[in-house]
Amino acid sequence: MPLDRLGRPLRDLRISVTDRCNFRCTYCMPREIFGRDFEFLRREDLLTFEEITRLTQLFAHLGVEKIRLTGGEPLLRRDLESLVEMLAHVKGIRDLTITTNGSLLTREKARALKDAGLHRISISLDSLDDDVFRAMNDVNFPVQRVLDAIDAANEAGLWPIKIDMVVKRGVNEKSIVEMARRFRGTGHIVRFIEYMDVGTTNGWRMEDVVPSREVVERIGREWPVEPAHPNYFGEVAERWKYRDGEGEFGVISSVTQPFCGSCTRARLTADGQLYLCLFATEGHDLRQGLRHRASDEEILDAIRVAWRGRDDRYSEIRSSETAGLAKVEMSRIGG
Ligand code: GTP
Ligand code: 5AD
Ligand code: SF4
Ligand code: SF4
Repeated sequence: MPLDRLGRPLRDLRISVTDRCNFRCTYCMPREIFGRDFEFLRREDLLTFEEITRLTQLFAHLGVEKIRLTGGEPLLRRDLESLVEMLAHVKGIRDLTITTNGSLLTREKARALKDAGLHRISISLDSLDDDVFRAMNDVNFPVQRVLDAIDAANEAGLWPIKIDMVVKRGVNEKSIVEMARRFRGTGHIVRFIEYMDVGTTNGWRMEDVVPSREVVERIGREWPVEPAHPNYFGEVAERWKYRDGEGEFGVISSVTQPFCGSCTRARLTADGQLYLCLFATEGHDLRQGLRHRASDEEILDAIRVAWRGRDDRYSEIRSSETAGLAKVEMSRIGG
């Protein structure tokens, strides 16, 4: 089991299955950049389900226990449930989940994913205010259809459902308490994410970040809350419980309280590049080996070498000096 240069093991692999998305969230795929002329990956560039499964087996051999499928929007990849089924059979994988915007999650799809072996799901929703949400996804997608997707996931038993909201100052701050109110007592867990400087295209400014501390204060003014212990070492979200027993919410504070020290995550792009940090500028190509008949041992070695050399801790060293880096885009690397 390799450790990186800061002593961190590899536990968690996030696999992007497509760099395309049907939304144009302003903080992720601003439409001025991701317009008609934008060159997405070509079909033949994408790893096949067999290639993804082979890599997953190799990663599991190195200690990975948790797989998250991401995008772009992962449900745009046709027949995703087949991939889920293949991954669900990989020995050593104890947690298999997906992050989606919910737009394509019908009852049938949710059921098919569950039947294929998906354990749980995270659905992004940035506001309950229809105008605010339509403006943030920038494709005029209504709130109600994401709420329907959450119901579909619930009926299919994809629990616990996490509902992720990126908070942007002056844009959807008002939705913080509304989201807490709506999902308190439902068993679903809302997580408020600090807006991050991922990629180079979203025009991030520190002034646009609402610190998690403030989110907790605002919710705490409505209902008494108390901190809860992490579910596992290195959990990204900090958990808060409602003292009246109506459940919990989480805050993800990558900007104001970085958690690089316990970061056990690697990310694989849809075309087989291994990234060791959400804010990395370059990946390590694994597709070349896959497509040129490298042996398992050769691919394992490539992964081990990459991981052993890892010293990334971007969120801890974010500064004016890191501001100009040519970081990979969120839609390519997954969340
Ligand atoms: P659970 O398994 O449900 O605890 O969630 P998770 O740890 O897999 O987190 P998830 O993928 O749901 O992350 C939610 C959001 O947190 C992501 O979309 C990112 O915005 C942010 N995030 C997750 N991992 C990292 C990370 O390694 N670094 C930074 N900076 N942000 C992260
Ligand atoms: N900052 C924080 N979270 C982001 N996401 C996408 N871009 C950003 C950003 N700049 C989140 C989405 C979704 C997940 C895939 O990543 O809201 O929940
Ligand atoms: Fe698509 Fe998710 Fe990015 Fe929004 S945040 S544009 S839904 S990949
Ligand atoms: Fe991990 Fe990089 Fe995020 Fe730090 S900034 S937690 S090293 S992905």
